[in-house]
Amino acid sequence: MSIDREQTPLLELRGVSADYAASGRLLRRRPAAPAISGIDFEIHPGETLAFVGESGSGKSTTGRVVLRLLPVMAGSVHFAGRDLAEWGAKTPLEYRRQVQAVFQDPSASLNPRHLVASALEIPLRRHGVTDRRDIRMRIDRAFEMVGLDRDHIGRFPNELSGGQQQRVAIARALVLEPRLVVCDEAVSALDMSTQGQIINLLKELQEETGVAYLFIAHDLGLVRHIADRVGVMSQGRLVELAETDALFANPRDPYTRRLLDATPASSPDGRDDRRAQRIADRAGVAG
Ligand SMILES: Nc1ncnc2c1ncn2[C@@H]1O[C@H](COP(=O)(O)OP(=O)(O)O)[C@@H](O)[C@H]1O
Ligand SMILES: [Mg+2]
Repeated sequence: MSIDREQTPLLELRGVSADYAASGRLLRRRPAAPAISGIDFEIHPGETLAFVGESGSGKSTTGRVVLRLLPVMAGSVHFAGRDLAEWGAKTPLEYRRQVQAVFQDPSASLNPRHLVASALEIPLRRHGVTDRRDIRMRIDRAFEMVGLDRDHIGRFPNELSGGQQQRVAIARALVLEPRLVVCDEAVSALDMSTQGQIINLLKELQEETGVAYLFIAHDLGLVRHIADRVGVMSQGRLVELAETDALFANPRDPYTRRLLDATPASSPDGRDDRRAQRIADRAGVAG
């Protein structure tokens, strides 16, 4: 899908700082700097922006600010041109619908005592879809989109594999037809081949629906497959943000270079896949 950078960005952060001090943990040692500071980026409709960086660098904190789970200390956040500061501490239900999340551990985010169908039904009802047939239709469609069959809908989460559970979490995010999904380490807990399947699924769903992703991962090799642009975080700051190919070909920040050096040359950086793809493409043209 082509990304129109002339358009108003879907999401725009300017000079954003945030910290956990306000959340009231009295005995917490105050760090010298806030958890994130001076964060600037935008995401366009249909785009995937990946954030990478080592543990504690501020990726999840940035995701939480976007999800409005953590208040902004300084700077501004705009969504579809609208300054979110207008809402104060409140977040309209409509924003909650348009900005969804998929987290690392699906078993923690699915209620073990509820059939997986209710993982989708509950948010639909919360967002005003109450007609039984309409609910049924949307649930069926969402499960079909993520490649789960009817049989899975009537099961409990612990009867599904990790990859299938993550498909349920993705279906739950997408059933509300969001414009942005924050994927925070959404594939990190999965084995390598399942990671590849879920990444391909996310890309397909993006092509179908035009949804944008803020894709958070600590693995630089992984984001190469999915990101249009990559932001590199270190110690609460965004040290580099570039088109994916440019970042891999010509990393400018020394920290990015170190991250790249630490990324194994073998899979999952995709070189082999790409070669295989090129060969397949050529075969297609020739045949
Ligand atoms: N719930 C929390 N309470 C207090 N500090 C936190 C909390 N979550 C993260 N932090 C701190 O915020 C900083 C950024 O963490 P985080 O955004 O979780 O990093 P990442 O997702 O890149 O691993 C770290 O210094 C971390 O210790
Ligand atoms: Mg994190």
